[in-house]
Amino acid sequence: MKTLIDEQQLREGIDRIAKEIREHYQGRQLTIVGVLIGSVVFLSDLIRRIDLPLRLELVQARSYRGASTRPGPLVLNLDLLSTGVRGRDVLLVDDIFDTGNTLWELVPQIDELGPATVRTAVLLRKEGRCQVPLKPHHVAFDIPDVFVVGYGLDYQDSYRNLPYVAELEAAELAESDR
Ligand code: IMP
Ligand code: MG
Repeated sequence: MKTLIDEQQLREGIDRIAKEIREHYQGRQLTIVGVLIGSVVFLSDLIRRIDLPLRLELVQARSYRGASTRPGPLVLNLDLLSTGVRGRDVLLVDDIFDTGNTLWELVPQIDELGPATVRTAVLLRKEGRCQVPLKPHHVAFDIPDVFVVGYGLDYQDSYRNLPYVAELEAAELAESDR
């Protein structure tokens, strides 16, 4: 495993986008909607750096199945939304923008619930992978096209608790993922 973004760099990147977000939403009715599970670590650090009155909500998205690093069919679950987002300024927060399909499908589903605005923020964006005409509004780090874990991101449900972002090396991947 190779460290790609260490703890100090994570703090700096998150400080930077927290400031962007704070400046954008000053005086608005911000609801941050985190995308489970991968965003939880980023989400908890990010919201504590946004000094605005805000609400926190969660939705669930799953696109990686079983042992693979390749995306499978996307399953979205909005049942966890509790207070509702009608009339609110919604910021969707995800761990990583890879093909972009998760946010591309999630944004219209949130839109149907009648928010005032919908924008997106991600910790990581992988270079050269985007398959959709959508650009996240806030990106903390652009990374090369490698499979990463840690700081919320998993491989086969492990590594989410690493306090930094690391690149998995071939020997750490199942044979079918190399
Ligand atoms: P997208 O829909 O292709 O943009 O993929 C988004 C989701 O795929 C993310 O929320 C992650 O859960 C997962 N994902 C994509 N790339 C990686 C990676 O390198 N490591 C771990 N999870 C990833
Ligand atoms: Mg995810």
